[in-house]
Amino acid sequence: MTRKGIILAGGAGTRLHPLTLATSKQLLPVYDKPMVYYPISVLMRAGIRDILIITTPEDQAAFKRLLGDGARIGVNFSYIVQDRPEGLAQAYLLGEDFLDGAPSAMALGDNLFFGDGLGAKLASAGQRTDGATVFGAWVKEPHRYGVVDFDADQRAVRIVEKPSEPPSNYAVTGLYFYDGDAPELARQVRPSARGELEITDLNNLYLERGALNVELLGQSFVWLDAGTHESLLEASEFVRVLEERHNRVIGCIEEIAYDQGWIDAEALRQIAGEYAKSPYGQYLAAAADRPPRGTPPAGGAAAAPSGPRLVAGR
Ligand code: G1P
Repeated sequence: MTRKGIILAGGAGTRLHPLTLATSKQLLPVYDKPMVYYPISVLMRAGIRDILIITTPEDQAAFKRLLGDGARIGVNFSYIVQDRPEGLAQAYLLGEDFLDGAPSAMALGDNLFFGDGLGAKLASAGQRTDGATVFGAWVKEPHRYGVVDFDADQRAVRIVEKPSEPPSNYAVTGLYFYDGDAPELARQVRPSARGELEITDLNNLYLERGALNVELLGQSFVWLDAGTHESLLEASEFVRVLEERHNRVIGCIEEIAYDQGWIDAEALRQIAGEYAKSPYGQYLAAAADRPPRGTPPAGGAAAAPSGPRLVAGR
């Protein structure tokens, strides 16, 4: 079965108040595009075209205005609301009908990934048909995240959610690949002390079955979550510097659709025309004048690069 995608973009964004009083955190700008473009671009780069967007009831209309049904970029966006922020694993209860038994990848709406080789990691996680894959990234403050506990052989033995004494510095990032069993396993998860169905508990259920694959992202990867004022500004600065330096827009969902062969140059030019006054639109117009870069070959190696390039989300 073809893998489907979930973007979880609910939550009240309380740590960003008053920025998030009138809009969703995941619609805030990260430099030149809305935050949610970045995780969507990661799913698209994993070859996923059928994507469920989970939002709060109040914000759904804004997401629909931004993304529509996805047809113009060759994907299919569906929408569902999460009434209350009752945990990430709840996405798998809400998304069960949408998934209809398919394997999936879920990306959190405020997580940004950058790094050479991400395409290959996505491809290999996508090819694994049994079990789950999560990605661990070294961070300075692991107590803010789900943290991987390793045994002496560097095998993951458990994931601990926001531990006061972290067993390692490896945080579990907000990108999860699951087989078709995820909704059924999510039903076994009980609310945590903070009243949420924790994704960490779902991951531990896979781990107990011997079916959790923990991929570590190396030092050349940058993983950001834009959940605080500082990290939001940091993410914008980071994207600005990379884009100016390399003249490549990252997280550019229209360009990815073109490079994946899901839309043609004419369709890309049409979108570019609608954004003609912004540098983003001008970038799309230039992209439509070159051939598509093509999908990575099976096995996961990145498409032949011409000079240095940014891989994550592009
Ligand atoms: C959530 C997960 C946590 C994960 C993090 C990644 O944290 O619970 O395991 O490491 O996302 O962004 P939360 O956003 O609920 O603080």
